[in-house]
Amino acid sequence: MHEIIEQLEKMREAARQGGGKRRVDAQHAKGKLTARERIGLFLDPDSFEEWDMFVEHRCVDFGMEENRIPGDGVVTGYGMVNGRQVFVYSQDFTVFGGSLSEAHAEKIGKVMDQALKVGVPVVGFNDSGGARIQEGVASLGGYADIFQRNVLASGVVPQISLIMGPCAGGAVYSPAMTDFIFMVRDSSYMFVTGPDVVKTVTHEEVTAEELGGAATHSTKSGVADGSFENDVEALLMLRRFIDFLPSNNREKPPSRPTSDNPDREDHALDSLIPDDPNKPYDMKELVLRVVDEGDFFELQPEYAKNIIIGFARMEGTTVGIVANQPMVLAGCLDIHSSIKAGRFIRFCDAFNIPVLTFVDVPGFMPGTSQEYGGIIKHGAKLLYAYAEATVPKVTVITRKAYGGAYDVMSSKHLRGDVNFAWPTAEIAVMGPKGAVEIIFREDMEDPNMIEARTEEYRQTFANPFIAGRRGYIDDVIMPHATRKRICRSLMMLRNKQIENPWRKHGNIPL
Ligand code: HXC
Repeated sequence: MHEIIEQLEKMREAARQGGGKRRVDAQHAKGKLTARERIGLFLDPDSFEEWDMFVEHRCVDFGMEENRIPGDGVVTGYGMVNGRQVFVYSQDFTVFGGSLSEAHAEKIGKVMDQALKVGVPVVGFNDSGGARIQEGVASLGGYADIFQRNVLASGVVPQISLIMGPCAGGAVYSPAMTDFIFMVRDSSYMFVTGPDVVKTVTHEEVTAEELGGAATHSTKSGVADGSFENDVEALLMLRRFIDFLPSNNREKPPSRPTSDNPDREDHALDSLIPDDPNKPYDMKELVLRVVDEGDFFELQPEYAKNIIIGFARMEGTTVGIVANQPMVLAGCLDIHSSIKAGRFIRFCDAFNIPVLTFVDVPGFMPGTSQEYGGIIKHGAKLLYAYAEATVPKVTVITRKAYGGAYDVMSSKHLRGDVNFAWPTAEIAVMGPKGAVEIIFREDMEDPNMIEARTEEYRQTFANPFIAGRRGYIDDVIMPHATRKRICRSLMMLRNKQIENPWRKHGNIPL
């Protein structure tokens, strides 16, 4: 017995060493933590239950039979984040460069299967040189087994990827199918083909960082939902992020006590909208003033900034926020913002998170680049997502709600449950200037007539009352009472139940 215990301890120690001191030092020298250090920081102290510490690869080619490291380059198991369970896998770059062998893939598959059975999120820390080159097709099969699980888990348990090192080739497609991707600045990258192949094929010279670093994916491609300064910041922010999410699609969103009074009024909001309807203001200020304790976890803050998305809480319970941002492109909807918000709304709907929408939108962005880029299909994604969503939907129109964009932004017609407007709201087919240019074309020569007609149109349509008369908005509310009215609406909606017709699945315009 004594011997076996000693042997067990030796094997555990060997696994804990990963690829050995030299490689661990190299990892630290790059400013990166090891796989185990990452798990240690991410989970509540002493909560990690490790699985498959003794798993080794089965490869016998290229001398690999002499080269086995227990754990085989990925640390897996489960633990707690602020008292709530999560499954986790953390690739160990110090062991065969974190590359994915058949056995490594089986370990990841095992925690994913179990997470699905017990309804708990899966969090992956990616730091890998890709397919284990010595294993060939067995490794490719391992990737596909993970992809399949990603798809089956989608919409059932939240899946989150934190990219903390290399993630290249087909390997990117597992994170790509998870719900959220976060990256660490300067030490992580993701691309389908690396700089060398790019140079050969397209003759472009580009560094790995430029091609697929955190800055690229959080500003240009929109692949990443956020990026963080270093491993420690990333792991701590991820803990904060997990707190917003339900554990699975059968749970209500998490709730926690708050000292922020749901009836709190904020009179600064009464002067948020400038007198000049063409002057921008910061919609984020409204979001921060309305939500509990000003605590807003924004997603994709540097991408498609004309729309704001993220999680917050109202009366302690998680809500998803979608808001047009008049500071950027006047808050227009375009291809990128439609995709950004559409995907977010679908996450919220899959996981029972109410959607709170703030509207100030002059319409869809005009132009050849938008039309050639397929704004028709991409804009439809946002429309589809709102229309399909059965979670509570509360909407506040602060200023412009023009044209098709009025319909799209969680209008009553798309089963918006409670739709409010501020007195400054303008709900119309288009803005007064554009409208006058079309319907009074014959008066265009006379500047006095233009002005008179524009004013006439503004008086008639640029207000919330025409929509109010038809019941398209439920009430015109004072800006300072916005929080109170939203909290009451969400409380009223907490047991909302509607179902879409049975179908295998809808066909969202992809
Ligand atoms: C086996 C690998 C490996 C791999 C790295 N290593 N990648 N072992 N399979 N894919 C090992 C190295 O041999 C080395 O071992 C250790 O990991 C660290 O690697 P270094 O090259 O020293 O590290 P670094 O300089 O930081 O470079 C990291 C790297 C580079 C850029 C990731 O290692 C690299 O280019 N690796 C190959 C990437 C690749 O082509 N992968 C296959 C892609 S195809 P020692 O013993 O010296 O410490 C793919 C298809 C997936 O992934 C398809 C899914 C559908």
